[in-house]
Amino acid sequence: MKAKLRYGMVGGGPGAFIGDAHRRAISVDDTARLSAGCFSRDFEKTKQQGEALGINPERCYEDYKEMARIESQREDGIDFVVVVTPNASHYEVCKAFLEAGIHVACDKPLVTESAQAEELKRIADEKDLLLMVTYTYMGHVTSKYVRDLVRDGEIGTIRTVMAEYPQGWLYNENDWGGKQGEWRCDPSQSGKVNCLGDLGTHVENAVAMMTGLKIKRVLAKMDVVVPGRKLDDNDQILVEYEGGATGINWTSQFAIGCDNSLRIRIYGSKGTILWFQENPEEVKMIKEDGIPRVIKRSYSAITPGAAKYGRLPAGHTEGWLEAMGNLYDSFAECVYAKEMGTFTEDMIDYPTIESGIQGLKYVEACLKSNENGNVWVEV
Ligand SMILES: NC(=O)c1ccc[n+]([C@@H]2O[C@H](COP(=O)([O-])OP(=O)(O)OC[C@H]3O[C@@H](n4cnc5c(N)ncnc54)[C@H](O)[C@@H]3O)[C@@H](O)[C@H]2O)c1
Repeated sequence: MKAKLRYGMVGGGPGAFIGDAHRRAISVDDTARLSAGCFSRDFEKTKQQGEALGINPERCYEDYKEMARIESQREDGIDFVVVVTPNASHYEVCKAFLEAGIHVACDKPLVTESAQAEELKRIADEKDLLLMVTYTYMGHVTSKYVRDLVRDGEIGTIRTVMAEYPQGWLYNENDWGGKQGEWRCDPSQSGKVNCLGDLGTHVENAVAMMTGLKIKRVLAKMDVVVPGRKLDDNDQILVEYEGGATGINWTSQFAIGCDNSLRIRIYGSKGTILWFQENPEEVKMIKEDGIPRVIKRSYSAITPGAAKYGRLPAGHTEGWLEAMGNLYDSFAECVYAKEMGTFTEDMIDYPTIESGIQGLKYVEACLKSNENGNVWVEV
């Protein structure tokens, strides 16, 4: 779908990380055009970023509430907004745009408390608006392929899932990881969790999306290990799913040598699937005959629902930006269909507000488990 839509951005100012990635991802397929922004709390920086991005100066806003109000009234106003600020501000920003009647794409974790997420859902439903949560990894062709393999029964009934997302960038007590690390480690900007919100929600969403399993209860051991830190930097979670499958989720920020090591291993009654986001061009499957099959993106084995997102022949690698772009392909198609009156629920192929709510319920159950002495807590 080519740029029939206009979007705005809150966050993503000079030197910010993920805002720039969103802009590049949306431009991969020219899904929508950036038309307005409140890129920073500092208006000078917003104007600077707006100029660098070629945005009409009158559509660079000093604060996001003004942006929501004015954009909702303009004839050529934005169709959706992208929210890429630190976690603790997501709720107020999303709320302002939903109340103004504008669709929202918000980065994870959606907000910091499930009650806030439920409130956003209530507003979105009332106003008939869409909200996507950008769990980037679920945009990969291969993660969608894993989802289809499990759904089609290729590995039988799932027995256990080992899921991990270790990083190493915050291992050093004297290095807080620049501005990205500083707000993540600060409860006033990050919320009650750091590592579990930043990485654990990715793990929870990846397992949910790939396997369709619903978490019944968790037993969490959440630790603050690096001296000086106030929030968790290593989380080990035992998981029990509805239907009896079990799992272990591990996330860490001091695992030296690990970068974005999201790794999912799914063990079923008839086979095993292995997926590693740092090598997203392939999926490994071992069935009862024991022969490992490596299935590469772009070959005919890939299911049509996943293959349709591929752009390049095998061997010309696609990665994280394309995965984010794939989420926007589906989201923009849905936003456009909403506006045309042709939207149907089965068009949705991106993580919705429900995924955001599940992520927060997972975090809250883990916190409760940890605070009560590592006991089982229902999600
Ligand atoms: N999907 C992913 O894989 C992924 C990866 C990294 C970060 N994230 C999420 O993206 C969000 C941003 O993270 P980041 O690493 O880009 O942070 P960052 O610190 O690099 O960028 C945050 C930006 O928001 C701006 N900002 C803060 N408050 C604002 C406000 N009230 N109005 C306007 N702008 C404001 C800051 O000036 C900055 O430009 C977080 O929620 C994080 O969890 C997601």
